[in-house]
Amino acid sequence: MTTDKNSQISKFYKRSLKERREILKSWMNDPAELDQTLDQGLTTAQADPMIENVIGIYSLPFGIATNFLINGKDYLIPMVIEEPSVVAAASNAAKLIRAGGGFTTRSDEPIMIGQIQILDVPDINKAIERIKTAEKQLMAMVDAIAGSIVKRGGGARGIETRVIPNTLNGDLLIVHLLYDTRDAMGANAINTAVEHIAPEIETLTSGRVNLKILSNLSDRRKAYAEGIVPAGELAQEKENLTGVQVVDSIVEASVFAECDPYRATTHNKGIMNGIDAVVMATGNDWRAIEAGAHAYAARHGHYTSLTQWRKTENGDLQGRIELPMAIGTVGGATRVHPTAQLAMKILGIDAARELSEVIAAVGLAQNLAAIRALATTGIQHGHMRMHARQLAIAAGASPEMIGRVVEAMIKANNIRLEYAKTLVAQGEQSG
Ligand code: MEV
Repeated sequence: MTTDKNSQISKFYKRSLKERREILKSWMNDPAELDQTLDQGLTTAQADPMIENVIGIYSLPFGIATNFLINGKDYLIPMVIEEPSVVAAASNAAKLIRAGGGFTTRSDEPIMIGQIQILDVPDINKAIERIKTAEKQLMAMVDAIAGSIVKRGGGARGIETRVIPNTLNGDLLIVHLLYDTRDAMGANAINTAVEHIAPEIETLTSGRVNLKILSNLSDRRKAYAEGIVPAGELAQEKENLTGVQVVDSIVEASVFAECDPYRATTHNKGIMNGIDAVVMATGNDWRAIEAGAHAYAARHGHYTSLTQWRKTENGDLQGRIELPMAIGTVGGATRVHPTAQLAMKILGIDAARELSEVIAAVGLAQNLAAIRALATTGIQHGHMRMHARQLAIAAGASPEMIGRVVEAMIKANNIRLEYAKTLVAQGEQSG
């Protein structure tokens, strides 16, 4: 368990890669093979059977976000992403929310939806009646073939019907199978289940079944996270901004995204920067999460933000996020990808619901970092500093030299590798 550990690790970003790994090892219960897994990653032999026509491996950076305190428990967050600033931003925002007591999260039962499309139904009302009467029998059919998911306490939870008006070829009758997938994402189990009961549905409705497939709008399986940032934590002395001013600007930024789909799309993209990075690290299906998130953001008929930020009665900043989170901790790539397994060990998580809540918290933190920067100094300021730091390191600056090289690049407004190399060479001569 990681409950007795503190994820607030001072200057983690300033440590060398090797030092970061040592810290991680001391954090983990079972750090064996950490170096080997991180250096080797997925082998070509492991990758070959995963998809078709494999020719090799495509690698991405694997980073760790710090400072996450969620429901009183500390987490180090594994993130896989190519975009600079995301990991640092998540860590900074988690620190702000930590100052307000940390994230509070919860999640729904892991209920997924499998859809069956039925056409040419002679009497839709009668068909619905017959499906209702047969609900228990259909659920028993599903559970009879569900194997390990039923053993773990999951399985069919209900059958619902929907009628969708359609002028092209007659109204559609849609059956939803509600299916508790426990710790699995569950796509295979649900698809097998809806295919299995489709002939029975045809008999009951006297109609013709077309599609049988899960829905990625998994709105019965949502994760929720909330957090408060004390206004004082948001003050920016350099820019002459009080905490209260920053709270107000962030609330204004939130309202912009809540009202305008153009802004909401970018706002939600920032949220997904964090969410996808953890979903990727843990070997989950980020396309399913993306599809569900954006469809949920449009659930009221207009596309809106997945988060809301408001000022509390005390003048502090309070934020919340709510979105579908169809992720698993068993099966799929999580089981076969060695780095995904390592990510799960770093998180110290077995249950899918806990993982879904951690991911929601990361999304909320990522959003806070983005809109805080946008509502104060602008996003480029931090990006350029980070970029300059990376160039300084790439140019061979020693740890003592990095700060000076970064400042000189920013002062000269010349953030290029060539200039970094010149500064490093000058520094070496003068040193
Ligand atoms: C960039 O990857 C993400 C942001 O554009 C998000 C936002 O605008 O809220 C900074």
